[in-house]
Amino acid sequence: MRSPQRNERPIGMFDSGFGGLTVARAVLDLLPDEDVVYLGDTGRYPYGPRPANEVRQFSLEIAEYLVTTHDVKALVVACNTATAAALDDLRDRLKIPVLGVIAPGVRAVVEGTDAQRIGVIGTVGTVASGSYQAAVAAMPRPVEAIVRSCPGFVEFVERGVTDGPEIQILAERMLAPIIEADVQALLLGCTHYPYLARVISGVLGPDVLLVSSADETAFALADLMQAEGLAHPDAGRGRRGHRTTEFISSGDVAAFTQLGSRLLGPELVDAHHWRHPHAP
Ligand code: DGL
Repeated sequence: MRSPQRNERPIGMFDSGFGGLTVARAVLDLLPDEDVVYLGDTGRYPYGPRPANEVRQFSLEIAEYLVTTHDVKALVVACNTATAAALDDLRDRLKIPVLGVIAPGVRAVVEGTDAQRIGVIGTVGTVASGSYQAAVAAMPRPVEAIVRSCPGFVEFVERGVTDGPEIQILAERMLAPIIEADVQALLLGCTHYPYLARVISGVLGPDVLLVSSADETAFALADLMQAEGLAHPDAGRGRRGHRTTEFISSGDVAAFTQLGSRLLGPELVDAHHWRHPHAP
């Protein structure tokens, strides 16, 4: 069998669990000719409360696996916590292009809205990294950002609970400082949060625009594929429906497949297991 050309190889994506599927959905829709390999590190989620150097280590291990075993042509870090902790290291070490979700998310809210004061919510790790504060400050248009963590949100999504009284109560508590700050837009700075958009929007009311990084990340990936000559050679020639998607979990594969297919859609029919380097 001939080895695939550089641009025929798949795009790799990863997250601590199911959250990156929000980005995967946008990538699958925008780039229907590209093969995609997605890894959810559900065996080691959540990343948010972990020290940055641990999340960096996990990210490097996953990248190494996706590059050596799946020969990915580009890597999307579909997790804000991992983007904050590891994007620079991944870019230094890998020979393929690496894209995070923080810069595209900030672009989406600053360039795509005229909000003067925005909220950003993310995990404890993302917020503590200061990455969002720095990315907003670096934009050409001055925007005031109120950045807050929402511990607990990720765990609800990972359990498949995206509505109901418990998450409603937690959302009211966690979003109180955002309501207090009277923001015009809220950037969902964790890829799990779009699954809670209905609850979040219900708490904040219709005047606060919710912005996710998923679509903007997919657009940035499409631009990157073009710029680097990495777009699949059959792109635009009716390959849609013939591309391959592969899903991998470091945790319980049956549970990953069941909830993942509910959250992502029909592309996720099965998954296989990755034994991470520290598995007992
Ligand atoms: N989806 C990851 C993020 O965007 C989440 C988190 C976690 O595992 O805590 O930050």
